[in-house]
Amino acid sequence: MISFDLEEKIFRIDTRNTTYAFKIAHEKFLAHLYYGKKTDSLQGFYREYPVDFAPYIEEIGANFSLDTIPTELSFFDSGDTKDTAIKIKNKNGDSSTLFYYKEHKIFKGRLEFENMPYSRLANETLEIIYEDETSGVELHSYYSVFENSDTITRYLKFVNKGQNKVQILQATGCQLDLSGADYTLVTLCGEYGKERNITEYPLHVGLQGIYSKRGHSSHQFNPFMAIKTSKTTENTGEAYGLEFVYSGDFEARAEMTYDKRVRLTMGLNRDTFTWNLQAGEEFITPEVIMTYSSEGLNKLSQNFHSHIREHIINPKFVYQKRPIVINTWEAMYFNIDEEILLRYAEKAKQLGIDTVVIDDGWFGKRNDDSIGLGDWYVNQEKFKNGLADFSEKIHALGLKLGIWIEPEMVNPKSELYKAHPEWVLQCKDRPCSLGRRQLVLDLTNDEVIEYIVEQIKTTLSEVKLEYIKWDFNRTLCEVGSLSLPKERQGEAKHRFTLGSYKMHKKLTEAFPNVLFEGCSGGGGRFDAGILFYCPQIWTSDNTDPVCRLAIQKGTSMAYPLSTISAHVSDSLWNKLESTPDYNFRFNVALGGVLGYEMNITRLSCDNEKKVTEQIKQYEKFAPLILSGDVYRLDNLEDGEYGFVCVAKDKSEFLLVYQNLNGSTKKRVPIVSIDNRSIYKDDKGNIYRGEKLLKEGIEIVTTSGTYSYLHCFCEKK
Ligand code: DGJ
Repeated sequence: MISFDLEEKIFRIDTRNTTYAFKIAHEKFLAHLYYGKKTDSLQGFYREYPVDFAPYIEEIGANFSLDTIPTELSFFDSGDTKDTAIKIKNKNGDSSTLFYYKEHKIFKGRLEFENMPYSRLANETLEIIYEDETSGVELHSYYSVFENSDTITRYLKFVNKGQNKVQILQATGCQLDLSGADYTLVTLCGEYGKERNITEYPLHVGLQGIYSKRGHSSHQFNPFMAIKTSKTTENTGEAYGLEFVYSGDFEARAEMTYDKRVRLTMGLNRDTFTWNLQAGEEFITPEVIMTYSSEGLNKLSQNFHSHIREHIINPKFVYQKRPIVINTWEAMYFNIDEEILLRYAEKAKQLGIDTVVIDDGWFGKRNDDSIGLGDWYVNQEKFKNGLADFSEKIHALGLKLGIWIEPEMVNPKSELYKAHPEWVLQCKDRPCSLGRRQLVLDLTNDEVIEYIVEQIKTTLSEVKLEYIKWDFNRTLCEVGSLSLPKERQGEAKHRFTLGSYKMHKKLTEAFPNVLFEGCSGGGGRFDAGILFYCPQIWTSDNTDPVCRLAIQKGTSMAYPLSTISAHVSDSLWNKLESTPDYNFRFNVALGGVLGYEMNITRLSCDNEKKVTEQIKQYEKFAPLILSGDVYRLDNLEDGEYGFVCVAKDKSEFLLVYQNLNGSTKKRVPIVSIDNRSIYKDDKGNIYRGEKLLKEGIEIVTTSGTYSYLHCFCEKK
């Protein structure tokens, strides 16, 4: 709920468990007051005080300085010398920026974006309108409220109401000023094959942060940032989190001053973004999801999970049964062969797998990664009677079909590049770097988008398809566009991301019943922007279970299990196992959406039995994985992993546990189940909720490594 106290000039935004508040100070400034546990009283949070050297405005007096007052948005060179959010270059050539509060509106719903992902179904929105007479620009700052998930999303709209062109140099959509405690910064960092490992550093005086300048959200830094107090655990204590609904270049920064004031910001990357705003034009920033938890990191994650499920993911798919796929990549690479595929399909059917996914290699002259990208027609040597005919055969077996695409890219060795070398991102008079032997299509140009979308539609529309894996296999550089004028080259990076969204919109709308899975060399574009179009994402190319544990745990910090695509494979990336133990791999895949990626025609009888049994088991709790609340286990030692996924009504839970140290017995604490319920596991064993909550649960691991327990509520 949003309210405005006319007398005190205080705005407050309440969600189910949180309050966010700020006030109008001296009629034109917005001072941040409070973000935290729901509270009635907002007294005592606002204080003005003089500080040596802090710039001030003469009519107001030296007690009030933008340098010391916590604010809602900060402006470059305005007297606030900390890390600032907004910077524009105005007609006079300087970049001194200052917007004053003008008015506000409170309305039901929210501003819906046409060309960008956004959070659907907001309860209501507070719109603060700032003005700046010098530049003639109006700045609208939005707070959309999602009461049940305890989230607020923040975004900005710049409107040039003046006569002159201005240039936006920095448009950071979300700023959060806090003060005080000894905070630790939590981010999800890594590299290719090691994405989103949880990384924690104490917040120190000065600036810390993460970013991407890669043109995708990146394997290195995920667009997620949290801070927690030093006492915060998985289940207790305070934490604040920000998550960007964006898939391109971003920055997330945390600054702490010497006197322990903290500013968090998240938005477009200031190094790779500028935008020209002609008279009468508007610019809208992508949005940031903001949340607070007083019950530890698990609740913070649950808020993000619930937000992503209820407001980001396409409602048609969010709770729909997901396919259990056999994906060809790790088994066949580019050697797609129709006959072999049919043998896979027959075996898949026997094992209980329901979808065959043809990964890279089915189109153009695609026999390795140097050739064919951009030529979206079926390779007739690999599919003699075409893909539609092959799909019929797959469906005749009672299976579904999936296919791989990488629409944003092109190989120099392709018919498309030969015909249109001007259609790739490039800076005039500079050579283009390659990445995985490919170039990037210029999606700032609508003609390119139209062409690719039409080609893919033509090829795939006659094929019966249920699933599309959308890949993106390189980092961008030399990002310029031959279709943009000189003065708009600085817009190319953001325009590319907007073009990619346009493509996602067109293709997902062209195939409304197809489930799309995002991918970027594994998890290089795992973000809430992609999840708006693709309900699940390929988490990492590293399918080794030992490595996957840290990757999936980190991913669960910000994203629900229903988004985490997890395959059982033969990969020995980490080399801790000499031969794959499929049950261990299955146990790890329980942290997401199950699939298989191996040569299933060569499984031993024993492994065939294991796979068949795994799928039967998984189907029992798949709905819970899509919808339950996840509690990562607390107080674990190094090498131990685990979580409990609990149904909203606490009628069912799944405990998943791994111990790489090899100990066979362990008691782990368990929270969040119902203390009055009696639970029964799949083997008929009975557990009292009250006892489990008090004493934890004793886990006996199979071969010292892993275990899971699935229980239903027997009676209350
Ligand atoms: C990278 C993906 O992450 C893999 O799963 C696979 O689809 C390859 N690309 C195909 O080129």
